[in-house]
Amino acid sequence: MRRIRLGVNIDHVATVRNARGETYPSPLRAALLAEKNGADSVTIHLREDRRHINELDLKEIKTKLKIPLNLEIAATKEMLKIASRSKPPFICVVPEKREEITTEGGLNLDHNKDFLRVLIKKLKKKNSRISLFIEPSLKDIEKAKKLDVDCVEIHTGKLCNLINKKKKYKKELKRIQKVVQKGNELGLEVHAGHGLTFISAKILSKIRGIQEFNIGHFLVGESIFEGLPLTIKKFKKILKL
Ligand code: PXP
Repeated sequence: MRRIRLGVNIDHVATVRNARGETYPSPLRAALLAEKNGADSVTIHLREDRRHINELDLKEIKTKLKIPLNLEIAATKEMLKIASRSKPPFICVVPEKREEITTEGGLNLDHNKDFLRVLIKKLKKKNSRISLFIEPSLKDIEKAKKLDVDCVEIHTGKLCNLINKKKKYKKELKRIQKVVQKGNELGLEVHAGHGLTFISAKILSKIRGIQEFNIGHFLVGESIFEGLPLTIKKFKKILKL
């Protein structure tokens, strides 16, 4: 039996809290509930503009969570400082644009390369597992390998969009499959994330060689109707092959 690990992204619990400037719903409570119900890790993205998760959330969750915390950060001096201090077990470096609604694509691995190299080296020294969020591109996965990371996370936004709109998605799925294969050949752990739903997670889970899915927006939305425990259990069932 294969089993893909499930990383539960709880950013949007904080989005709801911040929409009213309130103290609830609590991202910490969501993180601990995710842990209790079988999440393999919890993901939070500390954005430059702190639109959802803030440093207090990071501190509380890092202190109380027993499963690994996966901290998503942009490659900036500020985030390097915060991550060095917090020392989360997992770190995923993502691109960030202030005006975007969500992380629209993978990293540009030619931009800011020297700093990215320094950041990876420093955070690896703190014993964090480092991942880069990349497009499903053979060139990018080779570039990631040269940066000496442990993992890559493939941006699945385009695939999920095609599936949601009932458009042809096989070509994009094939593109992802080739990159996953390449990643495995290069000895990288390969993860996937962005826009995943029950349907797209099921389709993507058929590709061999992906070790971890990170899922947030749909999962938190679905929890409004079904509750977080049941939604996590449904995803876990899909990822148990
Ligand atoms: N993986 C990474 C690296 C992300 O930045 C995000 C959020 O954009 C996700 C996974 C989760 O995406 P979603 O919230 O669409 O499930």
